[in-house]
Amino acid sequence: MRKVNVGLLGFGTVGAGVVKILIEDRELVSSRAGVDIFLKAVADIDIESDRGISLDKGILIPDAYNIIDDPEIDIIVELIGGEGVAKEFILKAIANGKQVITANKALLAAHGNDIFRKAAEKGVDIAFEASVGGCMPIIKTLREALVGNRILSMTGILNGTCNYILTKLTNEGSAFEDALKDAQEKGFAEADPTLDIEGIDTAHKLAVLNAIAYGTDINFDDIYIEGITKITPMDIAFAAEFGYRIKLLAISKETNGKIEARVHPTMIPEGNLLAGVNGSLNAITVSGDAVEDILLYGRGAGRMPTASAVISDVVDLARILSGTKGRISTISNQQSEGQKVSILPMDNILTNYYIRFSAQDKPGVLSKISGILGDHKISIKSVHQKGRKEKGPVPIVMLTHQAKEADVKKALAEIDSLDIIISASMLIRIENGAAE
Ligand code: HSE
Repeated sequence: MRKVNVGLLGFGTVGAGVVKILIEDRELVSSRAGVDIFLKAVADIDIESDRGISLDKGILIPDAYNIIDDPEIDIIVELIGGEGVAKEFILKAIANGKQVITANKALLAAHGNDIFRKAAEKGVDIAFEASVGGCMPIIKTLREALVGNRILSMTGILNGTCNYILTKLTNEGSAFEDALKDAQEKGFAEADPTLDIEGIDTAHKLAVLNAIAYGTDINFDDIYIEGITKITPMDIAFAAEFGYRIKLLAISKETNGKIEARVHPTMIPEGNLLAGVNGSLNAITVSGDAVEDILLYGRGAGRMPTASAVISDVVDLARILSGTKGRISTISNQQSEGQKVSILPMDNILTNYYIRFSAQDKPGVLSKISGILGDHKISIKSVHQKGRKEKGPVPIVMLTHQAKEADVKKALAEIDSLDIIISASMLIRIENGAAE
């Protein structure tokens, strides 16, 4: 297996996530990629602080140029952020013929055209999946999955800080400043949170997406931008009265060869899918002429979600560099013989249940049903019976705590054979933790 060496610039929040995956999951990621991916060096001006992950001696160094100029390093991952040294380092890496990965949307929005041109001249790749939407694979989706489409429009919640603040204001009546402070403490706000709340970070991301979706240059300066700082609790309350939610949206549309691109607080109907995207989560809908609408949803910031996007770029570039043929094979995702993962038999699953019994309405019915459930270790969360009936069946609904499928099946078979039960019981499984 060919080895590809990676050098990381920036050992901050996301950098530490990337290190964690590259060290702890090296074998797994390398076997899937078909390339041995090795983290050779990490540079950061702070080589003392504990990031909760230990590196072998000598891996963490203070001078980025020792990595950028190392002829043995094939891929440079820039996770410093901002437009200062990050740009300098990326341009030097390109000049040195390295493949480059960055999560730096501010840099791409301001200097992306220049960086992409220089990379093309040098014949190297710039990968930037983590620059927009954290873990959501929006760049890959636009470039690869939707390659057969003309993109008609995109509408996204692309800033976790703003979405978190607006959700807090809407659901908890929090004060703006408290909600912002909270977002900063949770680690998803930019170093300068003005970039978040004034809509600039969202516009950086929209500029990057527009370039891919519509084949434009990166036109950040042409995007209309309005942040969320003027939104008051009164506007949120009026919006709710009219059946709307307020979200900071990035919107772009292609109409007759012109691109409309704007970022501003927007009222959207409460039933709209984006209205249900709360907290620091991001989501984006993309309309293509073939697919119509698709939706991506996930964590737009944070250590491990963003690191996940960086790793997908690392694997892509490592495969290109090593000349690996074909796509990641299905077989490489499978465990070796002896470690095969099998599907759990349905009888063994644990979940919650809604059970509707059709029973006679007379004394003792409930205790019989609940007794049998108890005999099978099924704990009842609540019981509901609406109305009374002298004749015919009455619906009795029970919600259970988590129970084992096999126990529920046995209990229902026993209950349904009782003479107080008029017709077969109805069972629907409940999944409480499906999405935030
Ligand atoms: N500050 C950004 C956010 C982080 O709040 O979404 C990810 O770009």
